[in-house]
Amino acid sequence: MLLEAHAVSKSFGDFFAVRDANLSVGEGEIVGLIGPNGAGKSTFFNCLAGDAVPTSGKIIFDGQDMTKAPPEAHARLGIGRTFQVPATFEGMSVIDNVMVGAFLRHPHQGDARDHASRIIELTGLKAQMDLAAHSLGTPGRKRLEIARVLATNPRLMLLDESLAGLTPTELQEAIRLVRKIHEMGITIVIVEHIMEVIMTLAGRVLAFNQGHVIASGRPEDVVKDEAVIEAYLGRGSHRVRRRSA
Ligand SMILES: Nc1ncnc2c1ncn2[C@@H]1O[C@H](COP(=O)(O)OP(=O)(O)OP(=O)(O)O)[C@@H](O)[C@H]1O
Ligand SMILES: [Mg+2]
Repeated sequence: MLLEAHAVSKSFGDFFAVRDANLSVGEGEIVGLIGPNGAGKSTFFNCLAGDAVPTSGKIIFDGQDMTKAPPEAHARLGIGRTFQVPATFEGMSVIDNVMVGAFLRHPHQGDARDHASRIIELTGLKAQMDLAAHSLGTPGRKRLEIARVLATNPRLMLLDESLAGLTPTELQEAIRLVRKIHEMGITIVIVEHIMEVIMTLAGRVLAFNQGHVIASGRPEDVVKDEAVIEAYLGRGSHRVRRRSA
């Protein structure tokens, strides 16, 4: 297994945002994480990426205990995560933002710029590369957030609602980008409320509710799970569409 989370809990005072969550991710998988607002998905990502230290439990990445390691150690070992609210430097240009990620593996400016340029090309941001990050629209911001992380050469990418707020056409393009990233050999865990994204991309899904994993398995089985329908999808839900080819 590339990533193993054993009984991970994260509490704030008496409140458990994540409770006893288990997740194993094998190299090359795309795993989807679903669940209602406040279910603990982002908090779980924070624990996996070192942005929060779990209250209890254990996180192993590539055989190393990362439970209490800082975010920099996670990035260096190959865990990259996007933030639900993009962590871009607003006044800096698109290329400079991507270079911040590229510097992790390319300490020399020229190398970092070359690497960032390749990532910019790959993520479809070439036309906007010299614009300030704050001037981008939603699709550009989402791409930049992905590009910034991709530039760190991750082995595992944690995508937290990176495809939210897009038009149907932009969404299809973003799905293609995630596929491309996966084809580069990067393992992916993706949090998304848009079920089409989950059904299309994920080979396996975990459903969270109130900090617990309430179901896991193949996407087509999880969406039929009574507890998932009750807690999240609703009956006769518009959220669920058939998996597209
Ligand atoms: N730093 C914090 N202090 C206190 N409570 C927090 C903190 N961070 C998150 N929470 C609470 O933990 C719960 C889980 O939040 P989290 O952001 O992980 O949910 P989520 O599943 O990502 O939701 P969404 O789908 O809306 O993004 C929420 O009730 C939230 O208010
Ligand atoms: Mg969240």
